[in-house]
Amino acid sequence: MKINFELAAPQSVETQALITYVFEEDDPVTGRVADLDQATGGLLRRLAKSGEITGKSLEMTLVHSPAGLKAERLLLVGAGKKEKFSPAELRTLAGAGFRYLKGKAVKRMAFFARESDANAGAAQAVTEGLLLADFEGDKYKTGKKNDAPVESTALLGWAAGSGAEQAIDRGRIIAESQNLARELANEPSNKMTPRILADRAAAMAREEGLSCEILDENRIAELKMGALLSVAQGSAEPPRLIAITYTPANAAPGAPVLGLVGKAVTFDTGGISIKPAADMDKMKFDMSGGAAMIATMRALARLKPAVKVIAVVPATENMPGGKAQKPGDIQTAMSGKTIEVMNTDAEGRLILADAVTYARKLGATHLVDAATLTGAIVVALAGINTGVFGTNQSFTDRVLASARAAGEKMWPMPMDDEYREMIKGTMADIQNISSSKGGGAITGAMFIREFVDDVPWVHLDIAGTAWYDDAKPWMVKGATGVPVRTLVDLAMNFNSAK
Ligand code: BES
Ligand code: MN
Ligand code: ZN
Repeated sequence: MKINFELAAPQSVETQALITYVFEEDDPVTGRVADLDQATGGLLRRLAKSGEITGKSLEMTLVHSPAGLKAERLLLVGAGKKEKFSPAELRTLAGAGFRYLKGKAVKRMAFFARESDANAGAAQAVTEGLLLADFEGDKYKTGKKNDAPVESTALLGWAAGSGAEQAIDRGRIIAESQNLARELANEPSNKMTPRILADRAAAMAREEGLSCEILDENRIAELKMGALLSVAQGSAEPPRLIAITYTPANAAPGAPVLGLVGKAVTFDTGGISIKPAADMDKMKFDMSGGAAMIATMRALARLKPAVKVIAVVPATENMPGGKAQKPGDIQTAMSGKTIEVMNTDAEGRLILADAVTYARKLGATHLVDAATLTGAIVVALAGINTGVFGTNQSFTDRVLASARAAGEKMWPMPMDDEYREMIKGTMADIQNISSSKGGGAITGAMFIREFVDDVPWVHLDIAGTAWYDDAKPWMVKGATGVPVRTLVDLAMNFNSAK
């Protein structure tokens, strides 16, 4: 879909639908919407007076053939309370308005920003919201409902010198990258094996001019990645380790290197500690962290941050079978630490252990990992917030600040040393599940920490946020592409002084 920056006045724009938004106030018809109301001869105020327009969040009011406007329709989207309004709400309401009209077969629309949003950041948020909303998860449907795509959306209400045009370009890069993560994560496991994911990553890297290294099962064995191999050994599909590097134009020696590590279990059956049948299909999403890292690298190749970034994505299936590892097996990770595998379903932390070790070997000075790691984080935070774990407060704060700036909800979780006791091994250095009840998301994070040592590191448990179980007004059901926007923001604002 095209997104066109236009300077035209909203009253005179010929479009199938003009979208704007109103706040939940005593009088929702103010500012630029009051101007539109005048053009329509007071229609909007009458609708507000009658109680039809309240400004409640994501309320949709569609007016056909509005008198005084060239647009065929006017859609007013509720923006909620003004005090709670932020670019995140703007992104969401733009997406929701877009999907509402797309569902009515509107092909050409225009989005008119309110007076308080005539800045570059808002233009980026709207662009992201529109393109994320345009994504459909219907690749394999033969009789497609949304066969004819929306042709264009014009952005109105931004001035020539506002930086909106560049912001639209940025927003497109970020949203299309996030949509790549969603597409990869939506793929079923028969169409997204570790080898296919590696091929997709390599093709992306080639197109974007990034360097890419794919380690096959032999190389993985040579490097003694015993933890990754132990998960992969039960599967007929061989594992891959994907490493993608972005190097900035004038990379200074000794400058920090951001390492992005993403769990990519292309299907998690649980292995011998097999999962129940109900909802097991969802476990095709267990490579969402890896998909997000690959997608983030695509965005960074285009946005060109000043920091070197390395993505490391361990990819494998977790399967039961005659060759599968069994509870009680002891494995030696690449770092040399020994691990007692008490539950083969706690496989994400095993593959991350070796991936984190490898990222450090490649020179990462700062690490962020993203993983659909635990059901326990869903118990703690539901599907609303990503769990954030870190041992370096200032680096953790930077990731949280990026999450806020990018409009991806995240919440910090504790990492006290006391939790370490729970993963001490009886027959090996550590074990892959806690020996006591509770705190499952924390002990998962503590396990990864064993392989990080003193490198500033943040772990993002996206088990609850990587997938929408139901469609939202602004996005289809399925993979969400979290935390691509946060990581892009982190890399773009990575300050070598810290
Ligand atoms: N991929 C799952 C985590 C998961 C579970 C994500 C449910 C979304 C919904 C992970 O590999 C896993 O199975 N974790 C176990 C760990 C346990 C055995 C310590 C879990 O959370 O049950
Ligand atoms: Mn598992
Ligand atoms: Zn898993």
